[in-house]
Amino acid sequence: MSKVVVVGSYVVDLMSRTPHLPKPGETVLGGPFQMGPGGKGGNQATAAARSGSEVTFVTKLGDDVFGREALKHFTKEDVNIEYIKVDPDQSTGAALIEVDEEGENSIVVALGACGTISEAEVVEAEEKIKEADIVLLQLETSIEAVVTTVKLARIHGVPVILNPAPYQEFPKEILKNVAYITPNETEAFELTGIEVTDEGTALTAAQMIHDLGVDSVIITLGGKGAFLYTGGDKGELIPSFTVEAVDTTGAGDAFNGGFAHAISNGYSLKDAMKFANAVAALSVTKIGTAPAMPYKNEVEALLAKTLK
Ligand code: RIB
Ligand code: NA
Repeated sequence: MSKVVVVGSYVVDLMSRTPHLPKPGETVLGGPFQMGPGGKGGNQATAAARSGSEVTFVTKLGDDVFGREALKHFTKEDVNIEYIKVDPDQSTGAALIEVDEEGENSIVVALGACGTISEAEVVEAEEKIKEADIVLLQLETSIEAVVTTVKLARIHGVPVILNPAPYQEFPKEILKNVAYITPNETEAFELTGIEVTDEGTALTAAQMIHDLGVDSVIITLGGKGAFLYTGGDKGELIPSFTVEAVDTTGAGDAFNGGFAHAISNGYSLKDAMKFANAVAALSVTKIGTAPAMPYKNEVEALLAKTLK
């Protein structure tokens, strides 16, 4: 079983269905309301654990009901909670999520405690980072936490996956020490100024990101799949699985958690992306984020079905 360390966000997801996403100034009658564990870090940790990895999650919570629910969730998921800090002076983060009838979403995320993870708090987990087969990071936390994690991973020779979501500015020098980067179209645009609309534009954007020092660039393209680029003048689209989408929230997290599991278990890049696509596809067939992550046997069943 491979060891995965996820450093990042935990927030509670407060979600409502809506006939359409509200315009500025508009109130829309929605429902049903649903609450559950979320945050990109928490979702990715859950996806990797359910895929079969041994996961340590480094994050920070408030000393409140949402924080206590989070600890229960990760305990149930067999995620190591030793490095989850509880800060009595802060609140657990929350995300306000609306999902429309097509399964599209819009999200405001208030990071709370997990937005203030300090260098010292990451350093506390150095032993775990050192032992890890892979470290998985997002940008939904303090940049201090991201930079420190990349630094520790480099010192201990542990490969890093950076999911640059949601996009915020960060020191690009760290990309030389990032083995895999997984932007979606929006984040690829933020990184390069290239509008990614098809495989051609994905290639151009991927080449620019590769030039910043990342070995493997994976641009996720929603329902189309994910585009892989590792150098030269070509890339490759790894197509996704066709499913009935009810809620795409957290699909990127499913992909990243699944990818971290597979790549750290010795899968080839393409097979790891295929595995990740399967995790993402299954996650969109269920409402919610962390609770919608599929288990290893479901992922394997989907992969086996498509081999026939
Ligand atoms: O990627 C989806 C996640 O982003 C949600 O769970 C929400 O918490 C937001 O942070
Ligand atoms: Na979902």
